[in-house]
Amino acid sequence: MSRILTGLKPTNILHLGNYFGAIEPFIKQQAHGDENLLFVADYHSITVPQEPADLREHIKFAVAVYLACGVDPEKIILFQQSHVQEHTELGWVLSCVATMGEAERMTQYKDKARVKGESVSVGLFTYPILMAADILLYDTQIVPVGEDQKQHVELARDLAERFNNRFGYTFVVPKPQIRESGARIMGLDDPEKKMSKSAASEKNYISLMDDAETVLKKVKSAVTDSEGIVVFREHKKGIVNLMTLYSLLTGLSFKEIEGVFEGKGYGDFKVAVAEEVTTFLTPLQKKITSYLENEDLLNQVLASGAEKARVIAQKKMTEVRKKIGIAA
Ligand code: ADP
Ligand code: TRP
Repeated sequence: MSRILTGLKPTNILHLGNYFGAIEPFIKQQAHGDENLLFVADYHSITVPQEPADLREHIKFAVAVYLACGVDPEKIILFQQSHVQEHTELGWVLSCVATMGEAERMTQYKDKARVKGESVSVGLFTYPILMAADILLYDTQIVPVGEDQKQHVELARDLAERFNNRFGYTFVVPKPQIRESGARIMGLDDPEKKMSKSAASEKNYISLMDDAETVLKKVKSAVTDSEGIVVFREHKKGIVNLMTLYSLLTGLSFKEIEGVFEGKGYGDFKVAVAEEVTTFLTPLQKKITSYLENEDLLNQVLASGAEKARVIAQKKMTEVRKKIGIAA
């Protein structure tokens, strides 16, 4: 048996990249692991300023989305990071094991700092260390993430090994698991960069809550090339991205998609992509809305998840305190 863990920051928007890169792969594996964990990474979201009332709503929304997507809180431990205080405690200990050089090498921080300049928080700089704590607390073996998070999981591996060498075996060394197809859904308006809610334009992403009209508009405006043929070619980044989405939604291979759209142009293909997206999103949105209307249930799920997570986290933290010499 192996234990799988992943976390997602709560936000007002979750898009198809988040779904195919993080949520779906996790759900596919939920039955196979040994007490798998999925958590709402609320302490990670405050690395950039958050309006408190909004954050509360976003946490609810995240839990509703996971449940609607098929996360089964009976099979896995679904919880809110801040409900288990051991995350921040181990985060501190690990920040004393990590080096400045290591933290400085994290590219995501560099990217964000470049955009925001000197006003970025210290928390944004050190958050990969908190992420390492999230992972190492639970003897996690596998961390399914999108490609952009791979470097952070590698940091968790390095910190686990260093801690183990210094203080004796304590942490399982985790492995990142990157999905092969669809691991990276690209932005509709810029297929050179990943789809992201922080993109400058809303046309970059398809939110899980977008209605049919919005989806059609966004897909129609997706950047493609001037060749007009639906075929998989490395340089046709926009078309390859739409083919990837279509393939993930229909289960068809690239070859089969090329067959279906032979002799047709991008216009027809885009309409077909938009239809598949909407067919997928409509029932999902109904479920999300109905979970959002049942706040008691959401709170109950989180309370019971935190209880189960705490049992594991407290045991590990007791061991860590002893190993480093602050407890007998
Ligand atoms: P965003 O870039 O929209 O802010 P996050 O950084 O909050 O997204 O990512 C949440 C999770 O979704 C991570 O595991 C990340 O790897 C995955 N993810 C985000 N964007 C994409 C994408 N375009 N394609 C695949 N996975 C993605
Ligand atoms: N840092 C991740 C992101 O931005 C979210 C996250 C936090 C995470 N802790 C984690 C992912 C632990 C996997 C494991 O998407």
